[in-house]
Amino acid sequence: MTFPTTRLRRLRYHPAVRNLIRATTLSPSNLVLPLFVRPGSGVRKEIASMPGHFQMSPDVFAEEVRQVARLGLGGILLFGIPAEKDACGSDAMSDQGIIPQAVRIAKEVAPQLLVITDVCFCEYTSHGHCGALSRVGGRIDLDNDTTLTMLGHQAAAHARAGADIVAPSGMIDGMVGAIRRRLDAIGYHHVPILSYAAKYASSFYGPFREAAESAPQFGDRRSYQMDPASDPGQALREIELDLAEGADMIMVKPALAYLDIICQVRERFPGVPLAAYNVSGEFSMVKAAARLGWLDERAVAMETLLAIRRAGASIILTYWAKDVVAWLKG
Ligand code: PBG
Repeated sequence: MTFPTTRLRRLRYHPAVRNLIRATTLSPSNLVLPLFVRPGSGVRKEIASMPGHFQMSPDVFAEEVRQVARLGLGGILLFGIPAEKDACGSDAMSDQGIIPQAVRIAKEVAPQLLVITDVCFCEYTSHGHCGALSRVGGRIDLDNDTTLTMLGHQAAAHARAGADIVAPSGMIDGMVGAIRRRLDAIGYHHVPILSYAAKYASSFYGPFREAAESAPQFGDRRSYQMDPASDPGQALREIELDLAEGADMIMVKPALAYLDIICQVRERFPGVPLAAYNVSGEFSMVKAAARLGWLDERAVAMETLLAIRRAGASIILTYWAKDVVAWLKG
């Protein structure tokens, strides 16, 4: 049937019909809010490029968790800025490190709130790379296999503190398997791994590196994070490998410029919980344009998040998580 018998606008005249046939939904329970914790007390330092987001000391963080727990979000994702950084990121592996401290606080204040921890070394190393460095083929580069042992220690410290899910984000070969073995060895076989399986070397992480004070002091992350121009099949291979190593959930990151990847992953791996990270740069550019009066923040944010869901992600990590709860309420 074609026009005039078929008129697709019939589906659009009445707002209630549009409502009825909606297929993509956004719910607070699918959203995860990233939070940044640093040592000290009374610290609530706004991140200049991410208005409304703060580096918080443990006491301020406790209050934030108390409030966030009432919103019905899927969970929080924790990033830490340690008191001291060193070449091997010691704070990251310590049970007294900033993240284990934060996890214990969150679990005490709001035991029912899901706590996910980012497992990576870039916030903790003096050089800002995502693990240990060594000379690889005449160049200083990330030492893959030494880093695996370190990641095992870091994930173990997070699990012992009470983390509900650990999320390795370093794109280190073998990271999921190494963490799974370590967690199993210490009796934490029930803690799932959300792998940042297809993570691209993206300029959209710029504001985050200010937030987490994690910019590399030299070089870049292109020898471990994926090349945006690489064949999409490489993302599928990364995911296949992570699943084989025991990943329980997978992530594509960033989200907006990689909706095609999200879509392909959804089709290729049905049944695997798929997350997408709506990263700092995606948030900051809308905030900036909204401040200039050039975009409507709420409308653009909701459209963005819907698009990420429509592409196939069930879970979205987003700096708008709290706003969405308010916006959905009307
Ligand atoms: C690495 C990590 C990064 C982000 C999350 N985990 C930064 C990076 O890879 O350089 C970026 C998140 C964002 O931009 O919002 N620990």
